[in-house]
Amino acid sequence: MPEQQQVLVTGGAGYIGSHVCVSLIEAGFTPVVVDNYSNSHEVALDRVTQITGVRPPVYAVDIRDEQRLGEVFAAHDIKAVMHFAGLKAVGESTTLPLEYHGNNVGGSITLFRVMEQHNVRKLIFSSSATVYGDPASVPIKETFPCQVTNPYGRTKLIVEDILRDMSAAPDAQWNTTLLRYFNPVGAHESGLIGEDPAGIPNNLVPFIAQVAVGNLPYLKVFGSDYDTRDGTGVRDYIHVVDLAAGHVAALEQLFQVAPECRVYNLGTGTGYSVLEVVKAFSEASGLEIPYELAPRRPGDIAQCFADPELAWEQLGWRTRRDLKQMMEDTWRWQKRNPQGYRTSES
Ligand code: NAD
Ligand code: WQD
Repeated sequence: MPEQQQVLVTGGAGYIGSHVCVSLIEAGFTPVVVDNYSNSHEVALDRVTQITGVRPPVYAVDIRDEQRLGEVFAAHDIKAVMHFAGLKAVGESTTLPLEYHGNNVGGSITLFRVMEQHNVRKLIFSSSATVYGDPASVPIKETFPCQVTNPYGRTKLIVEDILRDMSAAPDAQWNTTLLRYFNPVGAHESGLIGEDPAGIPNNLVPFIAQVAVGNLPYLKVFGSDYDTRDGTGVRDYIHVVDLAAGHVAALEQLFQVAPECRVYNLGTGTGYSVLEVVKAFSEASGLEIPYELAPRRPGDIAQCFADPELAWEQLGWRTRRDLKQMMEDTWRWQKRNPQGYRTSES
């Protein structure tokens, strides 16, 4: 396998990007990080160094800044790009659509232009299961129709479409992999890196973790009348370290296959309800998680889980960590870092 190949990681200080940096280093690649720290802390990269013993090159650069991004490409022999940088809060995207399109779509176009200028056409893009909208059935296959329901989801689908168009152009050399993540949760087993949302978390597992450390009083369970086994919403939670391994598998494939645009679901194939997640977290932490049943959250669907077979067949990747380990690792991270990266031991 290519040793010491340099891979640009946009958004590399973020939740998923920081875990992918660890996996890339462990697989013998050199991540070159660019991040504007709009939703992250540089200390996450210090922790990546602590885990791996390697300090990746890091640039405080906004991907919308074509000139500075070009300088990063000029300074490194970048062979491929993993593109995580973007805004990701569904609710916020409905109030700040222009910000979301400008950052997620505009930033991506700038990145792709700079890649072309530097003859780099291998890309892995962070897409989302949100592009499936409310699927007609589960498990969800990559061939299912896309139907987005909010500006955030639309930015993901637009960037996917741009990449499909670029691959389809005559003589295109673009080699791209679109990874549609289901619900990433958990943290590195060291407890040194994890998810550190700004303000009150929107997502279930970070919310539960903050209830557990006493930052929030109780969980509101959004909807208990869905057509699911206990009435609460069912999702495909995937351990972030498994997700990171999926990126390394996709990267290794990129170096071996002819240019085209591929798409893979990254999920476990198993759905768990909100109440099952609460129970698993309680067991992992030994703590009672107080909760109240509340009305449905607008825009939510009853259930969403992946058919992960295509990634297994073509990437040789599948998940290895179960819900118990997801919750144990979330708890270790949150307990060691009750205020996230702002104040923490070690
Ligand atoms: P995150 O917010 O932790 O990471 C995104 C990173 O990008 C942050 O470090 C942020 O500072 C940086 N960033 C944002 N705009 C930037 C810009 N213009 N220039 C440079 N850096 C910028 O989010 P995450 O959970 O790690 O998600 C990573 C990617 O995966 C995102 O594209 C997200 O949409 C996608 N995704 C996430 C989930 C999820 O549930 N976490 C699910 C599906 C897809
Ligand atoms: C999971 C379940 C909620 C919070 C979102 C994005 C998706 C992707 C992943 C980026 C649902 C319930 C939640 C709470 C609750 N992100 N819940 N109380 O909505 O499946 O997916 O993150 O691409 O695009 O939409 O994840 O963690 O918010 O919710 O009861 O305080 O937990 O109703 O059933 P979701 P989530």
